[in-house]
Amino acid sequence: MKDSAVAAVILAAGKGTRMRSERPKVLYEVAGRPMVGHVLEAALGLAPRVVAVVVGHGAREVRTALRADGAFDAGRVRFAVQRDQRGTGHALRCALPALKGFRGTVLVLNGDVPLVGSATLRTLVEAHRRSRNAATLLTFRPADPTGYGRVVRDGRGAFLDVVEEKDADFEVRTIAEVNAGLYAFDAALLPDALRRLRAQNSQGELYVTDLPRILRREGRAVGAVRVLDPDAVSGVNTLSELAQAGATMRRRVLEAFLAEGVEIADPSTTFVAPDARIGAGSRLEPFTVIEPGVRIGRGCSVGPFARLRRGTVLEDGASVGNFVEVKATRLGRGSRARHLAYLGDADLGAEVNVGAGTITCNYDGRRKSETVVGDGAFLGSGTLLVAPVRVGAYAVTGAGAVVLAGRNVPSGTTAVGVPARVVAKPAARRRAAKRAPARRRPASRRPAARKKGR
Ligand code: UD1
Ligand code: CA
Repeated sequence: MKDSAVAAVILAAGKGTRMRSERPKVLYEVAGRPMVGHVLEAALGLAPRVVAVVVGHGAREVRTALRADGAFDAGRVRFAVQRDQRGTGHALRCALPALKGFRGTVLVLNGDVPLVGSATLRTLVEAHRRSRNAATLLTFRPADPTGYGRVVRDGRGAFLDVVEEKDADFEVRTIAEVNAGLYAFDAALLPDALRRLRAQNSQGELYVTDLPRILRREGRAVGAVRVLDPDAVSGVNTLSELAQAGATMRRRVLEAFLAEGVEIADPSTTFVAPDARIGAGSRLEPFTVIEPGVRIGRGCSVGPFARLRRGTVLEDGASVGNFVEVKATRLGRGSRARHLAYLGDADLGAEVNVGAGTITCNYDGRRKSETVVGDGAFLGSGTLLVAPVRVGAYAVTGAGAVVLAGRNVPSGTTAVGVPARVVAKPAARRRAAKRAPARRRPASRRPAARKKGR
């Protein structure tokens, strides 16, 4: 059936005066992603025919950011321009050409509601269709309704109007139920209703919030559905609200990992990007930051005070400890960097021991270079690996060794000093190297504190 189709409009042209900066508000990030990216992902979750994003203030930056967003779908997203920001109703008017010929339900979404998910939008569309409404809006009761449009109902609870705070009298301001800025409209009725908007309000703007009243006065069905969880639909107008949204999102992400069997010692000091992957049985210690794109296997241990940046891969049983930063680096199975290290652009095999204070010197001021460390290698405390460089399997570096670029340390050898020189080929290591890819190390080298039963 044609009318079951969905299209979406995301209003993202506003300046965001209350953020007190020139940066377009919808580009402020929540969990490492622009707010408008979150809204776009929620909209695309409903398989809409088209999503029109209205841009205006900072249009070019908003477009660029969205095109770079993981959820962006060039086949379905169109941009509409609102040259002057004359209000949310005016913004929706600007989107109409992008919806030309569309029949069905048009979702209209404020771009500054980053916590909204597809499930909430589906509830909106279903309620809208079930009641055969001309317009349906989502409402909620925030802890503090200041700044929101209030939802006015009649004595029997039927929707009457949305009144913006700036236009509200004292009595209306006491209403606790507010407009979430998420609407569903019947596409066929929108053009005419939009033509009838007037800027007769304290801000001299065209309000999208007048549309439900206009349609209701025409005798059409209009619904207002209350969402119980304020966190699902809260708007962001200030930096304080942005921080709150970030905290809510972070808690949600951590809850999902906890549910999947990832142990998190202190959620209040743990930051994990929503798209990170962490295997069950891994444990995150306090003050740990795991950035987008990081992959962690099973039975790993991270932190306290560790930062894993983009491109980090920890294979099963690997461990990264205090004050260790890892970027674009793989730690193979069971490898350990437990104290004070920087590993960047490196590939470490299995069962590598990274001594305290070890650093991959990956940047020479002009370009980044790679470091490769073979299985079972032992990097002594304070080793500096000047990239590009390779340390072979089961090789050893002495404390404070500075391994210069290109001066590779062959498998099974020991290198010490500044600059590092190969001094010995311990028999045990040579044998071990021959046995490669052996996994086991002598019992004396296994960390005593390794927990059982992982
Ligand atoms: C709006 C609603 C209010 C609701 C609240 C929910 C109106 C008039 N009021 O208020 O009832 O409680 O959202 O969060 O709609 N935008 C444009 N062009 C413009 C103006 C705004 O694209 O000319 C965009 C903004 O970028 C933003 C969204 O529309 O993403 C909402 O605008 P904003 O100014 O934040 O509206 P609120 O005052 O929060
Ligand atoms: Ca807003």
